[in-house]
Amino acid sequence: MAENTEKRALSGITPSGTLHLGNYFGMMKPAIEMQYEYECFYFIADYHALTQLPEREDLQQRAFRIAVDFLACGLDPARTTFFRQSDVPEVLELTWMLNCLTPVGLLERCHSYKDKVEKGLPANHGLLTYPVLMSSDILIYQSNVVPVGKDQKQHLEITRDLATRFNHQYGEILTMPEARIRESVAAVPGIDGRKMSKSYDNTIELFDSEKQMRKRIMEIVTDSTPLDEPKDPETCNVFALYKLFASEEEVEQMREQYMAGGFGYGHAKKALFEKCREYFRPFREKHEYYLNHPQAVEDILQDGARHARAVARQTVDEVRKAVGID
Ligand code: ADP
Ligand code: TRP
Repeated sequence: MAENTEKRALSGITPSGTLHLGNYFGMMKPAIEMQYEYECFYFIADYHALTQLPEREDLQQRAFRIAVDFLACGLDPARTTFFRQSDVPEVLELTWMLNCLTPVGLLERCHSYKDKVEKGLPANHGLLTYPVLMSSDILIYQSNVVPVGKDQKQHLEITRDLATRFNHQYGEILTMPEARIRESVAAVPGIDGRKMSKSYDNTIELFDSEKQMRKRIMEIVTDSTPLDEPKDPETCNVFALYKLFASEEEVEQMREQYMAGGFGYGHAKKALFEKCREYFRPFREKHEYYLNHPQAVEDILQDGARHARAVARQTVDEVRKAVGID
């Protein structure tokens, strides 16, 4: 494991479905890049996924697939502690301690709780207490920075609030974490122009067959400007996606082609497909490998869990002592 970095970054990934280009550019790529700068702890949040009552096989499959995708895309287990949340059950013990410091009203005011209940998820106690488990995830590893999407901002505020309450009540044991909100990545558009999201069925998946990837790219919605006429690159979904893959010169070149006319959306889609295929080709080989070697994936997660658990155990021992149940 990396010992040369002074700051610890931690993040959790909920295993809720197959990953798409939006997830890759919005979350995975920045997370993977951080491993060169921080001591990273990344985990698959399967306890959190239970709040949505998935089928047993679905939960296991999704957790496995997320692990495979992250490893394929460059997560380096020699640098990053990569593990399954539930392999460190100590986190539930700290959750209980934090629960006892959490005002119920604070949880009831959470946007994500209200949104999920509005969407029809059962208002179970797990869903209500989700931010406390998340706080425990963060605090148990004494994390310094927590890279997350904007939707998790309130959860990080709760985490800091609970750390303050705990340290005030029992002494300075828990490290105060800082949110690293990813504001810079503009939302990656889906094939219909809305934000790419699995709930809109407008995604381009990372490890679909090349044939399927091509089909989805060809389906990207464009306007009906005839081939000969100039086109506005800035309002085009194909161009927006192309920008994620191409070099500055290539982007400039395509911009000029759009504006000159005689360049059709079909041409742009073909160029996008080529770029996308080229970009993911090296990842595909690793993806195949890990898919066919589930034991190798399991070994990585178990190694990660051993390291994570040692850190968690230390925090929980201190916490037990501080609260008086050691
Ligand atoms: P989905 O919208 O498909 O359900 P999630 O909410 O599970 O995706 O996304 C997990 C993370 O991936 C988010 O917190 C966000 O940072 C990132 N992400 C998802 N979709 C996009 C997108 N279209 N553009 C940029 N980032 C995204
Ligand atoms: N709730 C986060 C999400 O849905 C996942 C998560 C669980 C997490 N525990 C965490 C993120 C701890 C950061 C830190 O994206």
